[in-house]
Amino acid sequence: MTYTDKEKKFSRYTVTSALPYANGPVHIGHLAGVYVPADIYARYLRSAGEEVLFLGGSDEHGVPITIKARKEGVTPQDIVDRYHAIIKESFSQLGISFDIYSRTSSPEHHETAAAYFKKLYDEGKFIEKTSMQYYDEEAHQFLADRYITGTCPHCGNEHAYGDQCEACGTSLNATDLINPKSTLSGNPPVMRETRHWYLPLDQDELWLRQWILEQHKGDWKTNVYGQCKSWIDAGLQPRAVTRDLDWGVKVPLADADGKVLYVWFDAPIGYISFTRQLKGGDWEKWWKSDDTKLVHFIGKDNIVFHCIIFPAMLKAEGSFILPENVPANEFLNLEGDKISTSRNWAVWLHEYLQDFPGKQDVLRYTLCSNAPETKDNDFTWKDFQLKNNSELVAILGNFVNRTMVLTHKFFEGKVPVCGALSETEEGLVREMASFPERVGRSIETYRFREALAEMMNLARLGNKYLTDTEPWKLIKSDPARTATVLNLSLQICANLAILCEPFLPFTAEKMRRMLNLAPLGWRAAEGHTLLQAGHALEKPELLFEQIDDAAIAAQVNKLLETKRQNELNAWAPAQVKETVAFDDFGKVDIRVGTVLECAKVPKADKLLQFKIEDGMGTRTIVSGIAKYYPEPEKLVGMQVCFIANFAPRKLKGVESQGMILSAEDKDGRLVLVSPSQLVTPGCSVG
Ligand code: MF3
Ligand code: ZN
Repeated sequence: MTYTDKEKKFSRYTVTSALPYANGPVHIGHLAGVYVPADIYARYLRSAGEEVLFLGGSDEHGVPITIKARKEGVTPQDIVDRYHAIIKESFSQLGISFDIYSRTSSPEHHETAAAYFKKLYDEGKFIEKTSMQYYDEEAHQFLADRYITGTCPHCGNEHAYGDQCEACGTSLNATDLINPKSTLSGNPPVMRETRHWYLPLDQDELWLRQWILEQHKGDWKTNVYGQCKSWIDAGLQPRAVTRDLDWGVKVPLADADGKVLYVWFDAPIGYISFTRQLKGGDWEKWWKSDDTKLVHFIGKDNIVFHCIIFPAMLKAEGSFILPENVPANEFLNLEGDKISTSRNWAVWLHEYLQDFPGKQDVLRYTLCSNAPETKDNDFTWKDFQLKNNSELVAILGNFVNRTMVLTHKFFEGKVPVCGALSETEEGLVREMASFPERVGRSIETYRFREALAEMMNLARLGNKYLTDTEPWKLIKSDPARTATVLNLSLQICANLAILCEPFLPFTAEKMRRMLNLAPLGWRAAEGHTLLQAGHALEKPELLFEQIDDAAIAAQVNKLLETKRQNELNAWAPAQVKETVAFDDFGKVDIRVGTVLECAKVPKADKLLQFKIEDGMGTRTIVSGIAKYYPEPEKLVGMQVCFIANFAPRKLKGVESQGMILSAEDKDGRLVLVSPSQLVTPGCSVG
């Protein structure tokens, strides 16, 4: 039994995590916002002896996937096959303990989602409407959602999509956009009539108000509650649940060719179809029993879909339970910048796993301790290093290692006998016993950062105990007391092995191996007799190792390279300057000259000194291009263009008689401008 559900006892838990779109790999933002907390929650409940179903899978429909496929010249199925495999594998390596990780392109899902739609249709739960929608005459296609871009009417972002503005987070209709453009042809779209089915959300206001704003006031997170309230207060509108597209679940009606279910209609049904896939005939109790607690883990951009639209779908069907909680997180930033797939500004899970083999728990720890639970948060590599070196290594690792090493040294690796406890030790034992409830309550109320910090406090307590009692000295004067100290310290290690498991499953397993401890339930950690005297321990292994500056610098450099690349990609030619009169241009005397000599100016690393044959004699010109021509002698014989009528000026002690012309490329590189054929030195350019 859990600590917080005493009155309303739930017999089982259906825990869902947002289905990631299979159009790119998973990054730390997804993990911190959704999968790490969801996994901690599911693991904790299992440890507490609860029946849990932890659902995950790929969301394989929707316009972004078809857009990506078109860009790459492959099919949407190719795209989702590729990313489903990457995502599934990387989740599994990180220890995300899904009971099933399935996908919405599977036939089982299509069947479940289509049947769901059909049932609501047959019962008259939809309204059917024809309306004018954007159509691309060149591509012969209606422009659903992301096939349209334009200016957001709320914040002015010029790259808002037909369904949402990512800059201000507002959910939009395509017709809200100012200056709409088709992403297929780039043309402004035309209006064409089409027919769709709508969920009449306007009729749901009353019960939604009652259910969310009254019943869940105070138990749903303020960010979630606040978003729901502003949606409901703004007035809910009927919402189309079908689209004119050829990728998705076909609308199961006779006269609906070329129409599929809206991705946000079919995807959450994925939670249900995956349950059926896993549980077969026994699936219904996970969705239709009042003693089942349904919890959705999502990011904040998913709130309206999981708190309003999906519940409205469940309610319309009639036999389903509603979510008990939707603990949505805010966003995680990376090194001060919004994580972005298109700008490659992310730490990708599959790359992390490659760069830091065996360090899954370090990432889990960092992301949980920094989870954006109440506000957006920032991930930095420096902080990642600090969390590893001064928390995991210095606190948890250090405590367990000292205890293990001393036991092997003084007691041949066997749990020593616990003698009479001092008053302080009695206090310690009482405090130890309080940790499972403290950590458990925090997890049950979705305060995962707090829960993790509590767990670490037990390791801190252990460290303090060792420091205070100094068993490494005590052994000389009082072996029996030393035995007691190490016995208690080992009991703390055993408790930690249980309490850290939801957060750090790989570490927990290592600890159990060292301690020779079978997996025990959560409440076992309330005790201090988990290990019997004489019980043989295995050899100590280091739980964590230092992460050095070089490893961090490599990651930071990778990001700097991304930034540089993005700046290059964002380059555009400078705006054309103000109009000038022809006569003004004529005042500048540009000539061609031949390079006779070229060398670096001593003590000036940027400057090259040219001796130019200019048809009238020779002249010296100094130019700041040394960086781009490391072998200046090779320029001899080349023809360059220069301004011949600049007043001479001194640069680093050399008089420069003119200015050599060069082009500045987008990366800032300067390139000399030269006539395309040999010409007579001294001739004019104009
Ligand atoms: N694919 C969506 C996203 O990444 C989440 C879908 S959650 C589901 O934002 F409930 F619809 F499955
Ligand atoms: Zn906006």
